[in-house]
Amino acid sequence: MQWSDDAVVYQIYLRSFADADGDGIGDLAGLRSRLGYLRSLGVDALWLNPCFRSPQVDHGYDVSDYFTIDPAYGDLAAFDALLATAHEQGLRVLLDLVPNHCSTQHPWFLEAAAAPPGSPERARFHFRPGRGPAGDEPPNNWQSVFGGPAWTRLVDGPYPGDWYLHAFDPAQPDFNWANPEVEALFDDVLRFWFARGVDGFRVDVAHGLHKHPDLADWPGGEGTHNAHMWNQAPVHDVYRRWRKIADEYDAAFVGEVWVPSAQELAPYQSPDELGQVFSFDLLVQPWHGPSLREAIDRTQAMVGADSAAAWVLANHDVHRAVTRYGQEQVLDAPDATDMIAAARREGPADLELGTRRARAAVMLLLALPGAAYLYQGEELGLPEVLDLPDGARQDPIWLRSGGTELGRDGCRVPMPWTPDGPTLGFSPDDSRPAWLPQPATFAALAVSNQDADPRSMLTLYRRAVAARRTAFPASEATRPLHWIDTGDEHVVAFRRGSATCVVTTGTTSFPLPPAWGDVLLASGPVADGTLPPDACAWLSAVPDGEAPHPLTPAAAGTTKES
Ligand code: NOJ
Repeated sequence: MQWSDDAVVYQIYLRSFADADGDGIGDLAGLRSRLGYLRSLGVDALWLNPCFRSPQVDHGYDVSDYFTIDPAYGDLAAFDALLATAHEQGLRVLLDLVPNHCSTQHPWFLEAAAAPPGSPERARFHFRPGRGPAGDEPPNNWQSVFGGPAWTRLVDGPYPGDWYLHAFDPAQPDFNWANPEVEALFDDVLRFWFARGVDGFRVDVAHGLHKHPDLADWPGGEGTHNAHMWNQAPVHDVYRRWRKIADEYDAAFVGEVWVPSAQELAPYQSPDELGQVFSFDLLVQPWHGPSLREAIDRTQAMVGADSAAAWVLANHDVHRAVTRYGQEQVLDAPDATDMIAAARREGPADLELGTRRARAAVMLLLALPGAAYLYQGEELGLPEVLDLPDGARQDPIWLRSGGTELGRDGCRVPMPWTPDGPTLGFSPDDSRPAWLPQPATFAALAVSNQDADPRSMLTLYRRAVAARRTAFPASEATRPLHWIDTGDEHVVAFRRGSATCVVTTGTTSFPLPPAWGDVLLASGPVADGTLPPDACAWLSAVPDGEAPHPLTPAAAGTTKES
């Protein structure tokens, strides 16, 4: 078992967490000053979105130097200080590795742009002549994730004319992973940060590194999963190699992998590769018992017996949970070619309803066997900010779609720490404005308002993270859960070890069978032993030797476990 198998990991979107130097952008010193807050949440580890030197076109996912910190966030000394303080306080630190692409400002790309076609400098990327008589059509039909062709033509420099591949923004050229120099670079990057004491990495676009060797046209057409661009077999050699390096340091990985099936996901998850991949399957499900249960089953089957799942309900790429769960719930299976779209729907949201469900959802998440990843601000119940002024938006998705797609700025709005002050305590009072404006509604949700309120989302998070340790202990992290048939598909219940988790996803309440034990924690009011709709409860153990958790006849007709 690895330390991360059961970890509760808090995701820091550094730019939006806490600003110490007053430039309106969160930084390492700000984070360091707030580590006490993370301790009070009880999490085991932090994952920081990329903080390496970067022109910030995609807020750090366009790296120009993998061996230093971006000046907007601090410097190596500030990083070392953060790491040391985090470790003193018992918090591990994961960084975010971006191996699929770098920035057009990375020295290698600058060298490639200045070198002739066919040169070793260009061979670190995918450069190709264009098609058509004038070479002014892209070399193949691949589309970028952020919209438009995945190729951009070099127009400047001494050797213009060829095109380079970028799965995301033109500012993010894809590395050629068939080139051993690229492999060697990332071995060095891993060792550099592991030697500094970093405890692991989240791996960005982990399924993207290798491309079809001929960069052949994708015959499936636009809008289908491009199996020439993603998930090529040699990528698994990369992770087997990285696993050996990580094992020298007891370091962990968690992969961001979007592939159409659990079968294709499984090798990335295996302990001799990354050991953890996010279960986006759960994240993209509607608030609907059978869908949630099926996603949990699929993930558990994918994970197998020798590693642990990485559960997640929100991150910096999707709409916030209270908004998603407050919208109309779409029951169609998420589109396998663009699963993330299911977590970025627009439309009106009932935030009170969404908040009740988000409270229940996080308790479900924390009861599942494996690691749980919590995105900053979810513990405050922040909604997605859908009405940012157009001029404030910075996401390349917004910019590249010509404003037709809102993009991801709405889940990246800076944290409200206090109900007043020009940036709600995010920056010192005399600072520049926060890099994205906070809506007035954030004031009521500020940390200092929720701190001592027993009914707040923050209090629920703190209680749930603490109760998880005893109710669902680490020794159970890789063991399967046992479903309990409640007789109502909208009441999802399972036992893990000696505790039970039950979630009401429908419109009816659920009388808790006394045999399930005492309520340890509930996300909503339990009156007369009854759990209301859109709520979750954890119930305590029954003594060893007793039949585990029979349902009372009053609660449901059948007693069955699978
Ligand atoms: C996935 C990251 O989570 C996202 O924020 C980023 O834009 C893309 N990868 C490209 O690096």
